[in-house]
Amino acid sequence: MERAMSREDLGEDVLRELDKVSEVAAHLWERGWAERNGGNISVDLTAIADRLPTTPDAVTVTMKDLPREAGGRTLFVTGAGERLRDLRPPMRAGGIVRFDDAANGYRVLWSAGGPSGFRATSELPSHLRIHLDLSSRNGEHRAVVHCHPTDLLALSHHPRFGIDEELLTRTLWAMLPEVRVFVPSGIAIAPYALPGSSVLAELTVEGLRKADVVLWSKHGAVAMGGDVREAFDLIDVAEKGAAILLRCLSAGYDPVGLSDDQLRELERKFDL
Ligand code: 13P
Ligand code: ZN
Repeated sequence: MERAMSREDLGEDVLRELDKVSEVAAHLWERGWAERNGGNISVDLTAIADRLPTTPDAVTVTMKDLPREAGGRTLFVTGAGERLRDLRPPMRAGGIVRFDDAANGYRVLWSAGGPSGFRATSELPSHLRIHLDLSSRNGEHRAVVHCHPTDLLALSHHPRFGIDEELLTRTLWAMLPEVRVFVPSGIAIAPYALPGSSVLAELTVEGLRKADVVLWSKHGAVAMGGDVREAFDLIDVAEKGAAILLRCLSAGYDPVGLSDDQLRELERKFDL
């Protein structure tokens, strides 16, 4: 029987991505967007981890209704029920999984606590579908972050902003120039769906085809990026807009917002 892989066996490229995951997970915890086991992260490592061996004794976790294209894909994923604040090295809360060629399930290649006890996040259907959708469109994004950002989540309960993604996007763009510039495709709203469900996965993929951040109504937010830092930045900037909006509303006035002319000026300058 082969020995289980250690962290050093993962190689420099993979370790670099894992370090970024630890950094972002710490931000999510500090911001209060990852209470208890809230939030999850995945990184598609297929291009840089194809040589990682599947140990013969690795457990196979079967999954129903996996898309065929999942076969052979290798992902870093956070574990179901794990605390993101436990993603510091040695990273007990995360693991690397590979889907078998027939897409009947995945095998745990590596996790700091040993492969046998590790189970991927309950939101794996959404993470996986996003990665597959991207690679089918030759997308460059490789990392997906889901968390529970307080102010965006609060706005998802708002009777108008919570149901009208165009209104929400335009209003948050007008809160400060950064939102217009760094969340250029705006925010999509996915109506509430059961956490971990394939319905939620479908709505998320649809939302990310047109927007930078998908707000899961009454639940949280999802974004993708070239790495986890980029995905985090999108949520962070959108959340800043939400915080300013709510701060003004709770002080009892409607924010004036950037004017249409001011927004157009930004669009010209930044080629948006
Ligand atoms: P997991 O612990 O399964 O990742 O779930 C956390 C979460 O935020 C569900 O949406
Ligand atoms: Zn969640």
